Amino acid sequence: MRFDLLTLFPGLFDGYFEQGLLKKAIDAGLVEIHRWNIRDWATGVHKSVDDTPYGGGPGMLIACPPVFDCVEAVQQSADEPGRLVMLTPQGRRLDQKTVEELSTYNRLLLLCGRYEGFDERIREGLEPLEISAGDFICNGGEVPAMLIIDAVIRLIPNVLGDETSSKYDSFAESGMLEYPQYTRPREFRGMTVPDVLLSGNHQEIARWREQQSLKRTQERRSDLLE
Ligand SMILES: C[S@@+](CC[C@H](N)C(=O)[O-])C[C@H]1O[C@@H](n2cnc3c(N)ncnc32)[C@H](O)[C@@H]1O
Repeated sequence: MRFDLLTLFPGLFDGYFEQGLLKKAIDAGLVEIHRWNIRDWATGVHKSVDDTPYGGGPGMLIACPPVFDCVEAVQQSADEPGRLVMLTPQGRRLDQKTVEELSTYNRLLLLCGRYEGFDERIREGLEPLEISAGDFICNGGEVPAMLIIDAVIRLIPNVLGDETSSKYDSFAESGMLEYPQYTRPREFRGMTVPDVLLSGNHQEIARWREQQSLKRTQERRSDLLE
């Protein structure tokens, strides 16, 4: 799967691609990432990408011309056009269902905003999928874009070492929170591992995990059960 990051701060992603699961996925050819600086499509002496809002108000808005030119050029940089995603707090809130939908595309262009956001005509003219990381305001779309990549690559076949592990994650197939998990030592500072997990009885363990998953979801996120 290919991701194209359209940003005013490509350097923010330094390091992010160079470690962990994402690096492994890139090295294995399962994920391809390209960074593009929107400012490279700005014209004029100052290479300005933003301007003051019509009607007044604080801050600056990212203007149409460099964004349209950048998106069009990036689309043409590969044989297959990608789905454009705009990172915006006004978009659909990111959840596992959205992540699953995003993982069905072969190519995503992630358009990261800054300042007070985008000229409205960028939405109108480019018709992106609008995705929000949550009901809060970040300084830019770069961290939300990383969130999308981080969550989506887990669903790409062969990216996770153990193919079943994303299946049992919270929000995945069951739609519930994951059950509690333990590892060695068996006892730590007076806290013990539930006996059933040491029993070797796989049926009992599966039943216990299902019950715990349901209990935890009821206690913490009853909205998921509705
Ligand atoms: C400071 S925000 C602008 C917020 C805008 N004035 C508003 O109220 O909707 C600048 C940029 O950060 C990104 N951003 C901020 N919060 C975000 C969120 N929760 N989800 C996705 N992107 C976000 C967007 O790309 C946005 O254009």
